Amino acid sequence: MRRKFIAGNWKMNKTVPESVQFARDLVSEIETYTHHDILICVPFTALVPVHDVVKGSNVKLGAQNMHYADSGAYTGEISASMLETAGCDYVIIGHSERRQYFGETNEILNKKMLKVVQTALLPIFCVGEVLEQRKAGDTERVVEEQIRTGLQGLSASDLSKVTIAYEPVWAIGTGETATPDQAEEVHKHIRRVIKNLYDENIANTLRIQYGGSVNPSNTVELLQRADIDGALIGGASLKVESFVEMIKIADRL
Ligand code: PGA
Repeated sequence: MRRKFIAGNWKMNKTVPESVQFARDLVSEIETYTHHDILICVPFTALVPVHDVVKGSNVKLGAQNMHYADSGAYTGEISASMLETAGCDYVIIGHSERRQYFGETNEILNKKMLKVVQTALLPIFCVGEVLEQRKAGDTERVVEEQIRTGLQGLSASDLSKVTIAYEPVWAIGTGETATPDQAEEVHKHIRRVIKNLYDENIANTLRIQYGGSVNPSNTVELLQRADIDGALIGGASLKVESFVEMIKIADRL
């Protein structure tokens, strides 16, 4: 049985005081919801102060990106050990905004994945097609390529640390969600790809989140699908009330 996994991705939102306030409110609201995993991926500047608030609670802490090098002349970048010592449990790798706006290719993301599995951080590896690729019937091929290249060289035991987030780019921040059928179809495909690359057991234990305009009104129908194990939520994770609502929904399922 895969535990449901609800994650908020704040992107470039919230100052340090706003982040700390959110974390305090969240921790007090969700104390009793323990049937699934809860994560907030906050800006780098908020990691340490938010960690002080969430430590010992059922809220896990994540970052939104990291570099693959251990240290060095990479102005503006952040390393895995910096994130670990800031209290991070998770890190998002390969979000479509990193791919689109910051030129992160499947090859660069593979270096990040190879690095992260050597650390105590748990990666959420994002994949997803853009609208033209979906219209061209290319979704499965694109997602498969992102997985094959992105995870190249990872062992079976490395895979046990990985969560995959399927996030169709056309559904991110647009208010347009993939239908549960569309999402489920790609999730099943991802599981098939993992089964071919590794084995059935690994494919069956892998958690696959859906992301792209998830909000309190579509959470139930998405999370009810057999292959959708959680959500990576942007906009609707920025308000405590809506994030908590989705957490409550996941806990009931
Ligand atoms: P959204 O973002 O929920 O605002 O569409 C999801 C994501 O980018 O992770």
